[in-house]
Amino acid sequence: MVTPETLGRHRLVPVVVLDEAESAAPLADALVEGGLPIAEVTFRTPAAAAAIARMAAHGGVTVGAGTVITVEQVDAAVEAGARFIVSPGFSPAIVRRCRELGVFVLPGATTATEIMAALEAGISVLKFFPAGSSGGVSALSALSAPFGQVSFVPTGGIDAASAPDYLALPSVLAVGGSWMVPRAAMAAGDFGLIADLVAASVQTTSATPTPPEWPG
Ligand code: 3PG
Repeated sequence: MVTPETLGRHRLVPVVVLDEAESAAPLADALVEGGLPIAEVTFRTPAAAAAIARMAAHGGVTVGAGTVITVEQVDAAVEAGARFIVSPGFSPAIVRRCRELGVFVLPGATTATEIMAALEAGISVLKFFPAGSSGGVSALSALSAPFGQVSFVPTGGIDAASAPDYLALPSVLAVGGSWMVPRAAMAAGDFGLIADLVAASVQTTSATPTPPEWPG
């Protein structure tokens, strides 16, 4: 079962926009080759559910669904084989459905009010999205102070250069982003480039110390 510790072990989550479900298997191979066998496949293209199914069938990668904004998408994602659900915001209905289906859910929040609403719903691991334009590392650091029981997965506007700064915050479990899997490289079928970008990011971030334990 995917748990917060799964994300914390990898520390990076590639966020993928797949235009062609046929790209899913070679992408999974590239992620494995790059040393990061996990992916968040976003519901931003019609190919999302089919791509999740192919990645789940691949077997070597922990696949989740991202940009999940409706309960119907939760159902479609889980049916396709998604093992975790990421949402850009906090929706009690989505959280409820994920619990019913027994799948780990990572909802988004960027304000103290949203974080408190999530805490009231029993959620203590949150996506911080869009991280870059919501104040970046300094905003997340300030928000972490009153919410010591919350772990964050910042995503949005992060790249290989800024990821270590986020990962250095004790409240940060993992960092997500699309910089490792450029849509153009996928369209060109350049999976070698993707494997190289993933490997470089794994290398850069592996030097960042891992917090001893995470709440929740
Ligand atoms: C997401 O869905 O988590 C983000 O859109 C990824 O953001 P990025 O493309 O800026 O990395």
